[in-house]
Amino acid sequence: MTTQPRHLLTLNDLGANGIRRVIERALADKRAGTSHQSPPLPGRSLAMLFEKASTRTRVSFEAGMTQLGGHAIFLSPADTQVGRGESAGDTARTLSRMVDAVMIRNHDHDVLENFAAAATVPVINGLTDRAHPCQLLADMLTLTEHCGDLAGRTVAWIGDDNNMCRSYMTAARLANFNLRIATPPGYQPDPASVEAAGDVVTLCNSAAEAARGADVVTTDVWASMGDEAEYQKRLAEFGGFQVDNAVMTEAKADALFMHCLPAHRDEEVAAAVIDGPQSVVWDQAENRLHAQKALLLELLAD
Ligand code: CP
Ligand code: NVA
Repeated sequence: MTTQPRHLLTLNDLGANGIRRVIERALADKRAGTSHQSPPLPGRSLAMLFEKASTRTRVSFEAGMTQLGGHAIFLSPADTQVGRGESAGDTARTLSRMVDAVMIRNHDHDVLENFAAAATVPVINGLTDRAHPCQLLADMLTLTEHCGDLAGRTVAWIGDDNNMCRSYMTAARLANFNLRIATPPGYQPDPASVEAAGDVVTLCNSAAEAARGADVVTTDVWASMGDEAEYQKRLAEFGGFQVDNAVMTEAKADALFMHCLPAHRDEEVAAAVIDGPQSVVWDQAENRLHAQKALLLELLAD
C-alpha cells in the first residue's frame, strides 16, 4: 500500500498540533542560528512553481532549502511546459519522480488540489486565490515571539476577504485566537466560512471597531494578484479602511502592526504606521524563512 504524502494546501492539513510543532521548531532553530553541523535534508530537492510574482516566498524557500542541506529549483510557466498547457496532474506525476517536494504559487486553488491529488511527494501551497498558509505560519511565529501564547489574543484584520483573510480565519480557529474582520461593504467573507470558523471570528463595520482593544492590527494590499483590473475601483471603495495612526490608537497601547508585504504605503497602511515603532513587518518577513524551514522538516524529515 502506498502511503499518501503530507501536503500543506491549507492550515487544516497541519492541524492545531502540527502548527504548534512547526512554530516550536522554528523558534528553537531560529534561536540556535542557521548553521547546521549536519544539515538535516542533504541531497533533497524542492521544485518551486511560480505562476505569480514573489520575493519573500521564493527567496525564503530557496535559502531555507540551502540552509537545510538541500536544493530548490525555480520553475515558471514561461520556461516550462506548464505554460504550453501540460496539465497539473501530468506535471505533478513527473515532478514527483524527480524531487522530494513541490511548492506552488498559482491562481486557482482547485488546480493546486488537482496537482496534489496526483503528486506522490508533499505539495506546499505558496499562495493561491484562496489561501496563503505559509504566510500564516510566519505570522503566528512572529506573534508568538512578540506576545507569547496566541490563545485568547485578538487580531484585527482590515481589508478584503482575500487569501490572507481566509487563512487568518483558519488560523484563528486552529490556534484559538480572536479575529475581528473589517471590510468595505461587498468585500466580506462569505457567511458559510465565517460560520465554519466559529465564535472566534467577528465581522465589524469599520477599521476602528475591529482594532478596538486588539493585540495586533494587520492588513494587506487592496487588490491582490489577479485583482489588478479592479485596482481603481477598489482604491475608491477602500478609502475608509486604511490602517493609520487613528486606527492604531484604538488598539492596545503596545499593539503590533503586521503586513504580509508587499505594502502600498498610504493606501492600505499609512507610512507612519508601517515605518513606525509598532510595526514588526521585517521580523514577519524574516520569519518566512524560519517557519518554512520548520515546515520542510515537518513534511520531509524521515
Ligand atoms: N508575503 C509574500 O508572500 O510575499 P511574496 O509575494 O514576495 O512572496
Ligand atoms: N493578498 C496578496 C498577498 C501577497 C503576498 C495577493 O494575493 O497578492
